[in-house]
Amino acid sequence: MNIDGLMEKFGGNGISFEDYHGFPAVRMENEFSSTLVSVYGGHVIEFKLPECEDILWMSGKSLFANGSPMRGGVPVCFPWFGAAPEGKSGSHGCVRNAMWEVSAAGIAPEGGNFVTLYFKGEDFELYYTVTANYTLTLSLEVNNLGVADFHFGGALHTYFNVSDAEKIAIEGLHGVSFLDTVINENGIQDGALKIDREIDRMFRSCGSVRIVDPGYKRVIHIDKYGSDSTVVWNPWIDKSKRMPDFGDDEYHTMVCVEAGKVPRIGDGGVVHSGVPFELRQVIRVELLD
Ligand code: BG6
Repeated sequence: MNIDGLMEKFGGNGISFEDYHGFPAVRMENEFSSTLVSVYGGHVIEFKLPECEDILWMSGKSLFANGSPMRGGVPVCFPWFGAAPEGKSGSHGCVRNAMWEVSAAGIAPEGGNFVTLYFKGEDFELYYTVTANYTLTLSLEVNNLGVADFHFGGALHTYFNVSDAEKIAIEGLHGVSFLDTVINENGIQDGALKIDREIDRMFRSCGSVRIVDPGYKRVIHIDKYGSDSTVVWNPWIDKSKRMPDFGDDEYHTMVCVEAGKVPRIGDGGVVHSGVPFELRQVIRVELLD
């Protein structure tokens, strides 16, 4: 459906549609926040609160092309996390590189707005509801369309905008075991996580995480449900240079804190026939004086 058709069917009450680099995107504008979600990829692009630096980070070098993921915002990694399994191609699954459908949009019962996007795979379907008020709630519902259990890996791969990656502290992971995929070693996190080199850590954690950012005078709280893994990623200097869709110096202003079901360190996701599974991430900002 084109932008005019989407506007006619779902527009009004804070919902509008716009072109985002050639793809339709839904804007949710209410008294609390302004949020943009691309229908391509089911990709949240922006979440802006009044008098606050952007919460989400987007790369100035992102690709916007059919078949490619966008770099930044919240890619939906599904139905695998990381390298593709045999017989498939592409990192982090196929749904971030595909067009979804808008299934519903309007005023959220809890205040603000919501949009629900729909994606149908071969043996699964996804309903992804993004609710935006003073918090951003991302709820990915997975339905198994078959009879046997459906196994998946996935994550809500959120890129956060930070004042300076070297000055933030990521709290909530102390004492949690992790796999560091940069050095391929297991470890236990000691204290807050600081970023002063390439970080690619998969934590066995279902707990809440906080990004304490003294430069932007705020704490971003990330609560997760249905997730047993937290991935923290910053590509740092060399990997940034190797990625064509990532600026050489952009690693200074971003960090990914991802809520996932990552089979390498957790149980992976299992969806029983007839029983929907939900992966949810709730993002809330606390301003510091
Ligand atoms: C992270 C992984 O989740 O995503 C990293 O832990 C990876 O290893 C990063 O480099 C980005 O992945 P992609 O496929 O979007 O370039």
